Parts: sequence; structure tokens; C-alpha cells
Amino acid sequence: MKDSSLKTEIASLKLENPHILASGILDENGYTMKKILEEGAAAVVTKSIGMDERNGYQAPVIADAPAGLINAIGLANPGIESFGDEIAIAKGSNRPVIGSIFASTVEEFANLAIRMQKYRVDAIELNLSCPHVKGFGSEVGSDPDLVEQIVNELKLKVPVPIFAKLTPNVTNILDIAKAAHKADALVLINTVRAIRIDIHARMPVLSNIYGGLSGPAIKPIGLRAVYDVYRETGFNIIGVGGIETHEDAVEYIMAGARAVQIGTALMTKGRKIFGELNSNLLQFMEREGYSSIDDMVGIGVVK
Ligand SMILES: Cc1cc2nc3c(=O)[nH]c(=O)nc-3n(C[C@H](O)[C@H](O)[C@H](O)COP(=O)(O)O)c2cc1C
Repeated sequence: MKDSSLKTEIASLKLENPHILASGILDENGYTMKKILEEGAAAVVTKSIGMDERNGYQAPVIADAPAGLINAIGLANPGIESFGDEIAIAKGSNRPVIGSIFASTVEEFANLAIRMQKYRVDAIELNLSCPHVKGFGSEVGSDPDLVEQIVNELKLKVPVPIFAKLTPNVTNILDIAKAAHKADALVLINTVRAIRIDIHARMPVLSNIYGGLSGPAIKPIGLRAVYDVYRETGFNIIGVGGIETHEDAVEYIMAGARAVQIGTALMTKGRKIFGELNSNLLQFMEREGYSSIDDMVGIGVVK
């Protein structure tokens, strides 16, 4: 079987395989993004970038959890002004670079998207879902009217594909997904709002108290979101949450995802994970008789 069987497409974005680096892990620096693309990732999503530089929260910003971790980095990032150089370096790999942005108003999102697009990113991912920063992320992404306005405005302002990354921390993710229907794809899911308590200090472990749970612990939650949104809408979906093996990726694809993102597993398994995912997925498809990714998309969904 040929490597080309792994190809997939999200709107006009062509990918060599379905495995993408998720936002926030080893993607604030052009050289690490380029390295990860050379290891076999089909594309990378940058760290979420805002208008101005942010230092994020004070330590501790990460706590461990059974089968995952809780982070409250606080959207630390260098700001849009200085980020063009990193994108240019990552683009040296000739694979797609997706620019992630966060803001609190429609105007700021539009402004950032225009600047990001000038850096020649191949798509823009809207962070409507970070669960631990006041005024941003899930606070914006829990309001269907605001989500609709942001997505619609960006579709008018920038020609590159727009991906909307949604939060699972809402009563009904379908309402938000439908509000974002003009996006070229939905990215499901960001982290799940969580805390840990230090029983000796008698206080929360994280300086911010709340953080976002990621890793294998959230895989069934991510799958449920992908499954529900795909079954109801048939939208293009990129699945993310707890993927460590090719079996995890296949589960997401069979639930309706056309591609998947990998985050926490980079920290636990290292960047070689992309090469392993590609070769193991190819062997799986050969054994099970699938000739393309498209053959598997949504086939696990009960009609
Ligand atoms: C340390 C860390 C930083 C993250 N930063 C961002 C970010 O800047 N923007 C964003 O949209 N998601 C961010 N995420 C969320 C991931 O992109 C992903 O949605 C989530 O971790 C679930 O996938 P995983 O289980 O493969 O890590 C971050 C996750 C982690 C663990």
C-alpha cells in the first residue's frame, strides 16, 4: 500500500496524512514546528497568538492527573507583531502551517486574522475554547451569537480556510457548532475545565485554580463531541483530545473526523510519534482493507 492512501482534505487544505500538531505544544518556535513537520506531521497549528505579548500565569501552571494533565498556561505568547519570523521558518518545510489566534471581540479577531494571513499561513484556527483565561477562549466560544458573528466576519475578511476550535465546557456543543456553520471546519475539542487540590497545602495546585484537562482522560469526551456534531451536521471536523496511538486516531475518524490533532502525547511520547502514527495507520488500513482515509470517515456513526 502506498503512503498516498493517507492523504486527506479539509476544505481546500490538502494534507499528506491525517495527523496534525495541536495548538500549544512545541509550536511557539519556527524550528520546533519545522522539525515536527519533518518527523511526519501533515501540518502544524501554532500556539494561539493574540494582539500583544502575554507572559501567562505564575507557576505552577501544570498539574498531573490520572491519564492526562491539567494546564493553565494563561495564553502566554509573543504577540502577533513578532510571530511572522517563526511562521516563515516553519513554512520552510513546505507543509501547511495553521495560525491559531485568540481575541475577545469580532474586530480584534478580524484584525489578527488579517495580520496572520499576511504571514502566509495556510489556514486560520480560531481559539474559541481556552477554558482558563477571563474574557477569552471559552467565554467567547460559549456564546452562539458571538461565535456566529466572529466566523461570518472572518469568512468575509480573509480568503484562507477558517477553522473554529470549540469548547466541550458548554451544555450543548451542537448549538455552538451550528452557530459556526460558515467555518470551513470545526476543531473538536479543546481541554476540559478542571482543578486539583494540594491536600497538604490545603489549596488548589494551579496558581490560576482552574486549568484544562488534556490527554487520554478526555478521549471519550472528544469522541462524543465529534460523533454528535458529525451525525447531526456532516460538517468537516478535525478531532482532538487524548490521541496517542493509530487506534485512537481511527476512532476519531470513524466518529466523523477528516483529520486529527495530537497535543499532550508529544510531551509523554516525544515527537517521533508522528512517524509511528503514519506507519501504524497505513498497516491498519492495509490489514482492514481501506484504500483511503475517506473510506473510514464517519463509518462508526449509527444513522
Ligand atoms: C500545555 C498545553 C497548552 C495548550 N495551549 C493551547 C493554545 O494555545 N490554544 C489552543 O487552542 N489549545 C491549546 N491547548 C489545547 C490543545 O491544543 C488540545 O486541544 C488539547 O490539549 C486536547 O488534545 P490532547 O489531549 O492531544 O492534548 C493546549 C494544551 C496543552 C496541554
